[in-house]
Amino acid sequence: MSALKKLMIVSNRLPCVVENVGGSVRVEPASGGLITALTSVLKNKETLWVGWPGSDAEEQDVRALIQAASIENCRFIPVFLSSVELAKFYYGFSNEILWPLFHDLQSRCNFDPCYWGIYKRVNKKYAAAVLEHAEGTDYVWVHDYHLMLIAEELREMEIGKTLAYFHHIPFPSPDIFAKLPWRSELLRAMLRFDVLGFQTGRDLRNFVLCLRRFLASEVRTRRNGRVVMFETSDRQVTAGAFPISIDFQEFSTRACSEEVTQMAASLRENIKADHCLLGVDRLDYTKGIPERLRAFELLLEQSPELQCRVTLVQIVVPSREDIPKYQELKQEVERLVTSINGRFTKNGWVPIQYVYRRLNRDELLAHYKAADVALVTPLKDGMNLVAKEFCAAHTSNDGVLIVSEFAGAAQQLKAGALVVNPNDLSGVANAIRQALVFTRAERLCRMRTMRRSIAKDNVSAWAEAFCTAVRLHTVETDESLACAVSV
Ligand code: ADP
Ligand code: G6P
Repeated sequence: MSALKKLMIVSNRLPCVVENVGGSVRVEPASGGLITALTSVLKNKETLWVGWPGSDAEEQDVRALIQAASIENCRFIPVFLSSVELAKFYYGFSNEILWPLFHDLQSRCNFDPCYWGIYKRVNKKYAAAVLEHAEGTDYVWVHDYHLMLIAEELREMEIGKTLAYFHHIPFPSPDIFAKLPWRSELLRAMLRFDVLGFQTGRDLRNFVLCLRRFLASEVRTRRNGRVVMFETSDRQVTAGAFPISIDFQEFSTRACSEEVTQMAASLRENIKADHCLLGVDRLDYTKGIPERLRAFELLLEQSPELQCRVTLVQIVVPSREDIPKYQELKQEVERLVTSINGRFTKNGWVPIQYVYRRLNRDELLAHYKAADVALVTPLKDGMNLVAKEFCAAHTSNDGVLIVSEFAGAAQQLKAGALVVNPNDLSGVANAIRQALVFTRAERLCRMRTMRRSIAKDNVSAWAEAFCTAVRLHTVETDESLACAVSV
């Protein structure tokens, strides 16, 4: 990052949301792993960030508010979406097709044919905003599945900049990707970027396999050290796996502050149980929240001696509530919490404490710190930063992480975590039992291993590795162009 002059970030959303509550407009921080990671690497870097301010408020009010909310050295460029674009691009193609399909949940997809045209149109709209402001920036760094067609649009507009893309969510295997009616168009458009970044080796492999299956005659693939190079008739593309992370130092330091320590102690006192389990998720069916609640219910059923001794705190941050599947999930979670609490509550002990709201950083850290065991059990997840944040907050090294084998984070943390299949409810219940009987020495040893790894591969290492790949790509393609000219 340090060698860069000025960076342009493009993502569907800006890191803040302008909300119109009862006629008065206010700015709130946006949620999700993409925002957590990016806001921590951009602090000291001159940046332009292009994105949607998440609002239906008046454009003039929004412009003024987001300028005031800009983070240090970072100017926000808002892209406004009409209600049709919001419905068909954001809720529709992005979140009713790409999101479930790329998380292997094809039965949840709504392949409405009218979504594709609007997805293309909105990618073009973002491209126009990029073009208007790209002057003086080193290169354009696009983030996530909402904008997979943007490089194609920018090339049409003859932008003349290096275009890089990071894919925050999983990339599916060819058998699942095959279900997408626009599969070849999407792959071709991705090859209009110069550099493509994926979360894990698994995602990169799946992408290569999809190219081989659907564009075999158009692309040649070769390995080049840690990255893969693709050659098409007119260009070269570099792709690699760059696992995203958190600002470990910042999370750890803040977790030790007086405020967080006191808040954690008071949370712990209110829990009134020997053991505290914790779940922290955005409201999303990929996070496996109902499955986790059922596994906890099974634990209480199978191990009655744990009743009154173990409490699960489940925190959910509201997300995408206008999509019917998300509304159904919210209701399902509430039904399960009520039913489990109704069944097991006794002598003042309530088995599940359920929180449905956004927490500020200190509150979040206090919850991590107060918990003995984190349950990070998504059905599928690109990375999952909650797993890493929990470890960063456990500065005492005394805490156990249970992580789904289908989260990207499991690759990095498997040496210290208990790895589970989130669909195997008995397996998850067993892992909780095991976590509760670990000796202190075992807990310390496991947590130390994970903390060391996250401290080393933190979010700045991620950004540095990605930016280095972009620099190398630029140098290598310039050199091969020079060779071609001299021949
Ligand atoms: P995703 O990107 O799918 O949302 P991640 O686990 O990678 O999943 O990132 C979620 C981010 O949202 C984390 O940085 C986490 O701290 C934050 N988060 C989750 N729940 C809450 C909450 N209730 N309040 C505030 N932040 C939250
Ligand atoms: C995940 C995605 C992000 C997205 C975030 C929140 O982290 O990878 O691209 O921003 O979820 O979802 P939302 O739909 O509210 O932007």
